[in-house]
Amino acid sequence: MLFRSWEQAPTAAGAGSGIARWPEVVRVADHVGVEHLLVTRHALVRRVLTDPATYRPDNALDAVTPMPVAALRILAAHRFRLPPTLANNGGASHPGIRALVADALHPTRVAAQRDWLAALVRRRVAALDATLATGAPVDLHAALAADLPLRVLARLVELPDAPVSAVKDFARATLELFWAPLDAGRQQALAAEVGRFHRLLREFATTGGGLAAALRAAGHPPDVVVGALFFLLVAGQETTSQFLTLLMHRLTGEQAVLAGLRDGSVAVADVVEEGLRLEPPIVTWRRMAAVDTTLGGTAVAAGTSIVLWLAGAGRDPATVDSPDEFRPGQRGSRRHLAFGAGAHRCVGDQLARMEAATVVAETAPLLAGVRVLRPPRYPDNLTFRMPDAFLVRR
Ligand code: HEM
Repeated sequence: MLFRSWEQAPTAAGAGSGIARWPEVVRVADHVGVEHLLVTRHALVRRVLTDPATYRPDNALDAVTPMPVAALRILAAHRFRLPPTLANNGGASHPGIRALVADALHPTRVAAQRDWLAALVRRRVAALDATLATGAPVDLHAALAADLPLRVLARLVELPDAPVSAVKDFARATLELFWAPLDAGRQQALAAEVGRFHRLLREFATTGGGLAAALRAAGHPPDVVVGALFFLLVAGQETTSQFLTLLMHRLTGEQAVLAGLRDGSVAVADVVEEGLRLEPPIVTWRRMAAVDTTLGGTAVAAGTSIVLWLAGAGRDPATVDSPDEFRPGQRGSRRHLAFGAGAHRCVGDQLARMEAATVVAETAPLLAGVRVLRPPRYPDNLTFRMPDAFLVRR
């Protein structure tokens, strides 16, 4: 269940909420026998996220499949280190690092990218329309989701001069290495790929401009600059890529919503929020109990891994009127926890929303006129959806 948790929630409208089937808090053993406490309800997930004294973020980036010595040696050979910087940093340096990242992603800087992105998406949609008119299929993930968030991020935060495909490969390798059930051979291959990219980042951290320069100027040591960039290159683009594909796929099955978008009776922003609630790209996020405590009546020992089911929280009947139905603007639609909550709440939420709103607005007519040839597939993963190709035809 832990590695395909999105399948636990029904996708068909009116199928009844899957969350009601689950206890509020449940112990689940993973593939290597480690026990996690899965938290399924909105109120409890929120309580954990907003109580950093009891539930620390230290384990947020821990590998769910422990790394064997061979993989650790490969990482060490690349001088790979990931000190706490952002998501896994419960220490005193967190607010300062977060503030610098937030400056780079300030809403006015994000808004300034909107027209550029809209023009790019419009050109791509026109090319896709032409291909679809010939009767040929198109891959909407490759054409409209995979690279766009990285291109926008590169304009906001100076990034190392690496080809888009190299960054995408590194980011997906990272999500697999840290959050997937793996065998030792695969771990070594992924460690080599992640280690190679980390080396490139280390060079950039000492010479690069933009955010790297701002972090250096604030006195952060090179390891911290690398760690922050490493996280941002994954969290700041792969998540949104995944969300764009999840949302486009969902919308091909929501013709009434697409019609509402076209006649103006449905707001794009409401579609994005409902998408985040029902199809979050990050399905779970972790915390670690710092002390012995109780949660939802269950005893929790210090050191326990807490898996917060963000996708489940979005479908909690206690917070939203029609938990499993895609109804933009319905009561509770915006109360999802797709971006987390509290001191570590996603700092790129406005950027992700702008990107999703732009893509939805520009692609709605195209989505209304296609049928799905091959839905995206999702590999086993504790946290990320990671869709692959999404093929459609007119
Ligand atoms: C749909 C897209 C996205 C989703 C669903 C998402 C979700 C999340 C979640 C669940 C967290 C953990 C929150 C917590 O612990 O309470 C997080 C943290 C973070 N996200 Fe996002 N994110 C997205 C896009 C982005 C983008 C575009 C950026 C930046 C360009 C970004 C940067 C970050 C950073 C820096 C953190 C760590 C914040 C901290 O620890 O202070 N994310 N995100």
